[in-house]
Amino acid sequence: MESKELLEKLEHKNKQAMEGGGSDRIKKQHDTGKLTARERIDKLFDEGTFIEIDRFKTHRCTDFGMADKKIPGDGVVTGHGHIHGRQTFVYAQDFTSFGGSLSQAHAEKICKVMEMAMRMGAPMIGINDSGGARIQEGIMSLSGYGDIFLLNVMASGVIPQINAIMGPSAGGAVYSPALTDWIFMVKKTSYMFITGPEVIKAVTREEVTKEALGGAIAHNTMSGVAHFASPDDETCLDQIRELLGFLPQNNMEDPPRLKTNDDPMRRDESLRKIVPSNPNVPYDIRDIVQSNMDDCHFFEVHEHWAKNIVVGFGRMDGMPVGVIANQPKFMAGVLDINASIKGARFVRFCDAFNIPLIIYEDVPGFMPGTHQEHGGIIKHGAKLIYAFCEATVPRITIITRKAYGGAYIVMSSKHIRGDINMAYPTAEIAVMGAEGAVNIISRNQIKNAEDPEAERKRLIDDYREKFSNPFRAAELGYIDEVIDPADTRLKIIQSLKMLKTKRDTNPPKKHGNIPL
Ligand code: HXC
Repeated sequence: MESKELLEKLEHKNKQAMEGGGSDRIKKQHDTGKLTARERIDKLFDEGTFIEIDRFKTHRCTDFGMADKKIPGDGVVTGHGHIHGRQTFVYAQDFTSFGGSLSQAHAEKICKVMEMAMRMGAPMIGINDSGGARIQEGIMSLSGYGDIFLLNVMASGVIPQINAIMGPSAGGAVYSPALTDWIFMVKKTSYMFITGPEVIKAVTREEVTKEALGGAIAHNTMSGVAHFASPDDETCLDQIRELLGFLPQNNMEDPPRLKTNDDPMRRDESLRKIVPSNPNVPYDIRDIVQSNMDDCHFFEVHEHWAKNIVVGFGRMDGMPVGVIANQPKFMAGVLDINASIKGARFVRFCDAFNIPLIIYEDVPGFMPGTHQEHGGIIKHGAKLIYAFCEATVPRITIITRKAYGGAYIVMSSKHIRGDINMAYPTAEIAVMGAEGAVNIISRNQIKNAEDPEAERKRLIDDYREKFSNPFRAAELGYIDEVIDPADTRLKIIQSLKMLKTKRDTNPPKKHGNIPL
């Protein structure tokens, strides 16, 4: 065969692969508001940088007439390219080919790029749009899921792993995304569930739609399984690009520092007025967090679940930081089961990937109630303590107002290896709030007083004066510095610079036993 003919053959094969499941199925994909796997990859990577691997791989199934039904690539596009100029690996399931279902060959392609991502120390992104296990292959496809799960776990804490759910993800297939660091979902077109509406109806008689059961809103607001809910594929891919910008390539590198024009010494006097003098009046902690970030830009993650704690990323003098902040605007910023889980997972992610943590604290304590106690607040709250205790990244805490009881210890206090602990003059660092304390320790004194109400008020004022301030803690060295809120940004940046060479380790062990 002449080389011209060979090249024509190659061209023909390439063209065939590009068509995936064919124009009708591509049209159906577009009609349902979804991009194709290749369009998604084009939008995800820097223009012209994507290099495909295994374009011609096909399945080996011969049952159910499958020997004659082969589509090059077998329902998944895999390869690597650049995001912000940095190498990143990807697999994108192609719903137009066999419904993106996972055959053994399809799984082998995914495993190949995952192994490459680990060897090269680069992030791995999975785009899921799949009918699950390739039904015609049976157990062979199940083995493929097992191989992927194993690699997900091996890669955990080594390279950042992100999954974007952009279509169906059902049955055991949901567990690969669940083993990764971040799950993005697209509203109305994606869903995740272990068993779908029909099985649920048959087993429990409960009737529920796919969207209500496992859509983006359900998993972002109720289960906390997903971290982002995007309005469409394009926005979702943009958000993934933005998230990656804060992350290092792997656990051996520091996160990428960017040049900034925002003055590290910038002061903000409006911060003096954000914390209300009445301890029972709420405010939005994000106003403080944002003001301190470079260009006042805060990239909040896991935004819609457990809103009483806020987590996200930003840069300070160009350095990426992770923020974990109690949110007085929701449930007074109390730590409950969900907030503890959300916070703990974020702390562990940042610690695994060398991202310094900035902690903003205004917490009245752990949430009381039978629902919380019987739901296991003891073991879930312990997750947050565990995560902070084992974290060796730089940790800077700013107490803006309440730091009561056990919650004071948990939120990266000095006692659990917090590096720099600062407080606003409005901080109240105490065993509990003044009212609660007086009601317990001075009950008899109040009862026997001539004017019990006046006596209660006097005792509360007295307690507040003595204990509801940052100075007791500062006298003991539990607080390094009481700061003017206007100086928060520069104080954090100075601390980050000082902590740049921080070295801290935990004792050697196989692994700890975090209270799951
Ligand atoms: C083979 C599949 C498939 C699958 C879809 N297709 N799912 N082929 N194996 N699992 C094919 C369809 O036959 C169809 O082919 C094409 O993909 C598009 O599917 P449609 O049904 O036309 O699309 P839609 O109406 O949008 O419905 C999508 C769907 C539905 C809800 C995902 O296809 C579906 O219910 N599929 C089966 C889901 C399932 O039960 N999977 C197994 C789960 S168990 P044609 O040629 O007609 O276009 C599992 C175990 C994992 O995954 C365990 C891990 C540990």
